[in-house]
Amino acid sequence: MALLIAPSLPSLIQGGMGVGVSGWVLARAVSSLGQLGVVSGTAPDIVMARQLQLGDPGGHWSRALRAYPRPETSQRILDTFHIAGGKDPTAPFKPTPMLGPESPWSVAELTIAATFAAVYLAKEGHSNPVGINLLEKIQVAVPYVILGAMLAGVDVVLAGAGIPRQIPGLLDALAAGHPAEYRIDVTGSDAFPIRVDPSRFHGPLHRPQFLAIVSSHVLAEHLARKASGRVDGFIVEAPVAGGHNAPPRGPLQLDASGQPIYGARDTADPTKFSQLGLPFWLAGGFGHPGKLREALALGAHGIQVGTAFAFCQESGLDPALKSAILHRAHLGRIGVTTQPFASPTGFPFKIVQLEGTLADPAVHLARRRVCDIGLLREVAVGPEGALILRCPSEPSDRWVAKDGLPDACNGRLCLCNGLLAAIGLGQRRSDGSVEPPLLTAGDSLTSLRDFSPDGTPYTAADVIRVLLA
Ligand SMILES: Cc1cc2nc3c(=O)[nH]c(=O)nc-3n(C[C@H](O)[C@H](O)[C@H](O)COP(=O)(O)O)c2cc1C
Repeated sequence: MALLIAPSLPSLIQGGMGVGVSGWVLARAVSSLGQLGVVSGTAPDIVMARQLQLGDPGGHWSRALRAYPRPETSQRILDTFHIAGGKDPTAPFKPTPMLGPESPWSVAELTIAATFAAVYLAKEGHSNPVGINLLEKIQVAVPYVILGAMLAGVDVVLAGAGIPRQIPGLLDALAAGHPAEYRIDVTGSDAFPIRVDPSRFHGPLHRPQFLAIVSSHVLAEHLARKASGRVDGFIVEAPVAGGHNAPPRGPLQLDASGQPIYGARDTADPTKFSQLGLPFWLAGGFGHPGKLREALALGAHGIQVGTAFAFCQESGLDPALKSAILHRAHLGRIGVTTQPFASPTGFPFKIVQLEGTLADPAVHLARRRVCDIGLLREVAVGPEGALILRCPSEPSDRWVAKDGLPDACNGRLCLCNGLLAAIGLGQRRSDGSVEPPLLTAGDSLTSLRDFSPDGTPYTAADVIRVLLA
């Protein structure tokens, strides 16, 4: 059925990479070159608000906000966050309101407008498709990110890190102009509905294709049959991929270095995906010469690649971190570990072992625990019966006061602050310190030599040329 549509998508997808690593600049570069550029839909509100405070170099966010269909909202955002010429470098960024299940419309609309702006910019100057990536785990943002992306005419929605069963139905409802409900999980209680109403905006919305990011054909089959609407294809992600990984099947076993042990059951079988009759792209370790041909021979429509794009010039990563990584990759002296407990989500998370970042135990221990972004907070029923939000990376006394188990805090990193610092948007604290960065990448980081044999910068066009050769 969906085969009628999906073959129009390119064979190379640039994977969505949060926070802000695959911003609009990278997605636009990739889509302009005829492949699928994907904007990260993680924390678009904070990325935009902080870049506006840095003076909005090039005026891109301000230009995109002027195209947002509710000008009074755009003006409010610019009045609140834009600082002409940029903020005093020693001053902290203004806090951005944390999104929760009961946030007022003004807070939700910051996410809608920021996603609109990012997709609008990624689509500027060409007519090729652009995608938006979502983490199902960040449930409270999902309906707003999708609405913002659809207002900007996004072509593909890609979602993983959870079971994105409700998203296809949400896309159908919003495209039909109907109010939609998205139910978020609440620990210890029933799901809580978040409602979005597209009629606040005028005009019909186009229904983007939906690609679910999965690691097993069992989940793919389930989604193809039981999701709330049409699934157009799958990204099949292996555990060597950058970012979060699906946990190994069965009881968690760790190797001597404390990393999860993956076995044969964790390797997806492409023939099973072919049998589903929907197009699929293979991801995780496919960003190397010859791998696209291999994927096509296995029946895939193409590949999704993250790490190779994460370190190219157009990615949002801090240029100093990029060049440190390229230098070490050139020397073959950089490692990536899979940490089973670092991420508050409970999913294994890949961490680049670079000194001066949160991977360094001394840097991690010296950081004072703060929770002021709150993307990965779980929603639970608190001791007094009301909805509360809590994160095992927040100060442990606050977590415990919200009925969290004390052990759950051990070894957790603040992904929100660490990943924002990795794109040059780290918060400055009252004692003058700046949040240390946290870098994620796939296991094959040293293979960046395929794109930069001598450790010098390379572009998204170089990645595409090498992978399609
Ligand atoms: C820096 C980085 C950040 C990532 N962030 C996300 C994300 O926010 N959402 C997501 O679905 N996948 C994320 N990924 C996974 C990529 O989209 C892609 O599937 C994966 O990197 C492919 O494997 P490779 O790294 O071996 O190329 C991330 C990967 C990297 C390297």
